[in-house]
Amino acid sequence: MSNPLKVGVIGVGGIAGTHFPGWKASEHAELVALADPVAPVLERIAKEQGITTTYAKPEDLINDPDVDIIDICTPSAYHAPLAIAALEAGKHVICEKPLAPTPEDINRMIAARDASGKYLMTAQHFRFMTDTQALKREIDTGVLGDVYHARSWMLRRNWLPVRPGFIYKKNSGGGPCIDIGVHILDLTLWMMGHPKPVAVSGITQDKLSRIPGAFSAWGGEIPQDMDVEEFASAFVRFDNGSTLILEVSWMLHHATHGEDMQMWLYGAQSGSHWPSNRVFSANNTTKRTADTQLSPVGSGMEPHAAECVAFAKAIADGAPSPVPAEQSRDVQLILNGLYESAAKGAEVRLA
Ligand SMILES: NC(=O)c1ccc[n+]([C@@H]2O[C@H](COP(=O)([O-])OP(=O)(O)OC[C@H]3O[C@@H](n4cnc5c(N)ncnc54)[C@H](O)[C@@H]3O)[C@@H](O)[C@H]2O)c1
Repeated sequence: MSNPLKVGVIGVGGIAGTHFPGWKASEHAELVALADPVAPVLERIAKEQGITTTYAKPEDLINDPDVDIIDICTPSAYHAPLAIAALEAGKHVICEKPLAPTPEDINRMIAARDASGKYLMTAQHFRFMTDTQALKREIDTGVLGDVYHARSWMLRRNWLPVRPGFIYKKNSGGGPCIDIGVHILDLTLWMMGHPKPVAVSGITQDKLSRIPGAFSAWGGEIPQDMDVEEFASAFVRFDNGSTLILEVSWMLHHATHGEDMQMWLYGAQSGSHWPSNRVFSANNTTKRTADTQLSPVGSGMEPHAAECVAFAKAIADGAPSPVPAEQSRDVQLILNGLYESAAKGAEVRLA
């Protein structure tokens, strides 16, 4: 293993730009190579980042003996094959969310990880924010007691990426569930302590995007052949009796401009709300309720960069992967169950 670990990034589009500062900031890693099939983009980014080793084919980067970590930033449908190839080539892998569009893909990635003995981490950057770190630390003290219900949503109003990597199922695996549902669901399961999902009842909708002239405020009209949902909702049951209501949208006639992302957790001792990071309780002796405001914790580093720093540090320290693939598999199990339930019009058992 090199010291620092040598990093190669596959797919140098939008999100890769948020990882580069993390590799630069890490004392355990160094960006050395890039791969992307689109030559002008690869050339431009390589110049900007001062990288001279570039590959048109990702497999050539994967087989580069000087690379220790593969950072996968391609559209989601390519995550599993690239990650498995990289693990089989003896590389550590950090991969953008969703780790893969189906739990079966993630199981194959886990098998490749276990066969290689290398690290595999999902880039769930919301876990690396100062407010989510603060809330997680508070919850881990047991302040909420048993969390028996959660409500989470990530709702965008006319805000969707009108790009082939996102709006066609063959590239992405799904719409806002796969694009942003993974963020709020990952965060919620992490805060709940990862109870095992056992059943899901869900619906999907595509009413607004089908109207001619429908637009994204990010730019672009929505092609009528977009084949993924614009809105989804689910009710999830867990093995410990707890439940979750989830809502996600790219398009919804919702009050907020841009994005409304919230997570409410209700426990036997107190409740919490993110992103306001307040904790709510009741004192049965004084008959008074109390609200507590949490303070942020952590370095304050931009969270996409912080997740890269955390990954390299975990490898260097021999610590567990900061976002284990098994946790991402449960996220995908729920989202795939949501799709299945929506198609069947009935609750789906997951376990
Ligand atoms: N964590 C976040 O906040 C966040 C935000 C946006 C996107 N993402 C995720 O990042 C991934 C990429 O999204 P993006 O917005 O950067 O997309 P993008 O379209 O901007 O960039 C993707 C890049 O991958 C390249 N590419 C496509 N197929 C490839 C292949 N087979 N091998 C190598 N390179 C290939 C494309 O040429 C492009 O440069 C997606 O999985 C998406 O879900 C995460």
